[in-house]
Formats: sequence, structure tokens, C-alpha cells
Amino acid sequence: MKSYPFERRSWAEPYKIKMVEPIKMTDPAERRAAIAEAGYNTFLLRSEDVYIDLLTDSGTGAMSDRQWAGLMMGDEAYAGSRNFHTLRDAVERHYGYRYTVPTHQGRGAEHLLSKLLIQSGDHIPGNMYFTTTRLHQELAGGVFVDVVIDEAHDPANTHPFKGNVDFDKLDALVAEVGADRIPYVCIATCVNMAGGQPISLQNLTALRRWCDQHRIMIVHDMTRLAENCYFIQQREPGQESRSIAEIAYDICKLTDAATMSAKKDPMVNIGGFLAMNDEQLYDKACNLAVIYEGLHTYGGMAGRDMEALAIGITESLHDNHIKARVGQVAYLGDLLNRSGVPIVQPTGGHAVFLNARAILRHIPQEHYPAQALAAALYADSGVRSMERGAVSAGRDPKTGRDRMPKMELVRLTIPRRVYTQAHMDVVAESVVDLYHHAEKIKGLRFTYEPEMLRFFRGRFEPIEP
Ligand code: F0G
Repeated sequence: MKSYPFERRSWAEPYKIKMVEPIKMTDPAERRAAIAEAGYNTFLLRSEDVYIDLLTDSGTGAMSDRQWAGLMMGDEAYAGSRNFHTLRDAVERHYGYRYTVPTHQGRGAEHLLSKLLIQSGDHIPGNMYFTTTRLHQELAGGVFVDVVIDEAHDPANTHPFKGNVDFDKLDALVAEVGADRIPYVCIATCVNMAGGQPISLQNLTALRRWCDQHRIMIVHDMTRLAENCYFIQQREPGQESRSIAEIAYDICKLTDAATMSAKKDPMVNIGGFLAMNDEQLYDKACNLAVIYEGLHTYGGMAGRDMEALAIGITESLHDNHIKARVGQVAYLGDLLNRSGVPIVQPTGGHAVFLNARAILRHIPQEHYPAQALAAALYADSGVRSMERGAVSAGRDPKTGRDRMPKMELVRLTIPRRVYTQAHMDVVAESVVDLYHHAEKIKGLRFTYEPEMLRFFRGRFEPIEP
């Protein structure tokens, strides 16, 4: 029992639960059979066999009563839906981008943008790769170049802004290929593959100056902008008394265009958009949207979904919401830190990342330790997580060999407003148990390997010693 006066007061979520969704409890034998049938790939499990689903925070959030009410306000006109105007107004009001093209989800926006801006042989620097983003860059003929600071590749490093850009790496790229072969720098806020790590306002401001000097655009992957803003508010000198909404607006103002997977920050189950300030670029984007997504005023989204998204944008920027959201991730991170489980430091905005290489020292990277750990976690407790290591990194398009990323991680991704603190306790206990019996876990080999984005549909079998 804590005694009065309390050192620190507890916080709780700024919402209460109005509807519940029962989840199935399974036994160990059922789970072992289910993961074997899924080829040891958590993407191939049936969701009804999952107890606590931490596969992703994408499209898995709980909408608010206001968002659900918004669904009833859908204007399902083919052209010029009222909800499109509500959405584009919300984007301009909160993010400042003047033009919005809805897309079916984030990768739809990445596809359009890559086609619009990349010529064959161009180089696209970014603060670490993301799977779909890089693939669309490559399909458009571009080459992705990682310019994130070295600290981002070290899971134990506690740098407060591991999403920052390294200007020496940018300068070296310009010296090598020339600024005219760099159409834009791709900047993600709260870098997913680095462990949900933020970029600082100061670093982004310096990047703006650098890009202006070289006449290069900045494209913002704003999928997890609100979480990045929270870290800026908490960690960046001079930002502590500013609101999340103010910081978000400032970040967007420093960039020229943005791709958004609306399934994350703004808490809708499906949707996204491409946003920008340049009218000519918007015109071209509309023409491409009509080919690949849908008319430029719906782009693959239902009118009702655009309404819920517009409401979700506003909710995502409330200070109390984001404090509770990132706070829940930190709660799980703290439990694992206290038990000595190696996780990416500091705990990120959307997920806790287990350092599979440090946990499974007996499994070489060619035997995919993170994939093996994710499968073992499911078998232990019905918790579904995701590999973010060599399987996700895929093969180098030139050499055809496995890319071996420095980090071999398992992502425990927390959906927004879905699980309780008790669920987090169950997850932590299962992870700690596995950590103490890690030697029982075996490496994996592919039995089926898709050509692209192989982590989604690949199948594996255990390697018997
Ligand atoms: N950019 C980032 C940083 C993402 O995390 C994602 C999706 C996308 C773009 C693509 O958006 O899925 O709407 O097409 N991330 C999901 C995840 C899949 O689980 O991290 P999408």
C-alpha cells in the first residue's frame, strides 16, 4: 500500500467503457496447433484464436461515441461528398496542409506520392525505412537511403530523439549523387521501425533549412504524429507548456507534403490521405487518385469513414488522450524493464519492442530469432505480436540476399483505447516467463517465401537442433 502523502498520483484514461467485445480464452494445446497451422507466422493466425492482439495499432483502435455517431452522417455521394469537405477542413485546420486527397490507407498515399515525385535512379533519404514506404519508392525506380542517426540502430541507446536525421549522412548523399537526384527527404514522425522513436522540432527545423539550401522537398509520413508531439512536449526544452495540437501544427508547417495512414493516430479502422501545399502537385495527385484509388473526393473511403476520420483527427490531438495512450505503452515498458527483459530504449509511442537477439542469443539471425519469439509468445499466452527483423527487412533487390538489420525485434503494439492495464500485466508476465526459459525456443526456416513484403504471408518451420 502506498502511504499518504503519495509520491506520485496515479493517472487513468480520459474515457469510460460503453460497449465490450468478448475475447476467446484458449488452452496451450490449441495454441500450439494454431501457430503450427499458421506456419509460425502471427499474421496467418485467425484473430478469433488470439487472446490479446498486439499485432498492430493499425486500424485496431476503439472509435469514440462521437466517431460512431459520425458514421451515421455519411454522405455516400460518388462526387463531392459533404464528408470530404469536413475531412479536408480538419486536415487544414489541424495540420495546415491546404490540399487533401483521400486514399484507401497509408500505402495508397505512398503509391501516388512515389509515382508523382520519383524518377528512375533517384535517391530518397529517410529517417529509417518503413516496409511499404520503401517498396513504393523502389517500385517507382528510387533507391531508399537511411539517414537516421546511428543511435536509432542501437536498441540499448537512450537518446531522447532517435528519429533525428544525421546531416553528415545527408551531405554525403548529396556529394555522391547530387541534390537534383534527391526529389525529397522522407521524414516519419515517431519512427516505427526504430521502436516508435521521435524526431525533435529542433532537428526538423534544421532539416528545413538544409532542404531549402538544396531545393529539396520534405515529405512527412505523419502516421504517428501525435505520439511524436507528446515526446517533444515531454522532452524538448522550451516545449513543455505547449499543447500537442500546437506542436503538431508546427511540425506540419516545416514540411511540404504528407502521407497519412489514418488507421493509427486518428483511430479509424480504415483510411488515409495524401496532403500537400502545392496546387500543381495536388492537381497531378487527383489525376492519379482517379486511376488507382477512386474519385479525388473519396479515394477509396466511404463518406461515413471520412466523417469519423475528421473527428478522430481532433481527438488524437487532445493532450489528455495522448498522455494516456503513450502512458499505457510506458506502463508495459516499465514492467519489462523492471524484470530485466531487454527491450528497445526508451519505450516508444505505440509499442514496446523486445530485443529478440539479446533474448535468444542461441539463435543466429539467419534463423530469424524475432519470428521465433513472436510464435513462442503466442503459444505461451495467446498474445499476438509481430516480427520486425530480418524477415520484415526482406531481400536486397540487387544481390537477392537477406538484408540483415542491426535490430531483430518483436513488436508488442498497443491498439488505442482498447486494452486495460490488467491486459498489460498478462502480457508482461508471459514475456518475462519466456525470457527465463528462452533456451527452449528454436529458430525457424522458410517453407514458403513470397517475393515481396514476405513477412505478411511467409510460412516457416522450426529448425530441429
Ligand atoms: N507508414 C508507417 C510509418 C506505417 O507504420 C504504416 C503502416 C504505413 C506507412 C502504411 O500504412 O498500413 O495504412 O497502408 N503500418 C502498419 C503497422 C501496417 O502495423 O505498423 P497502411
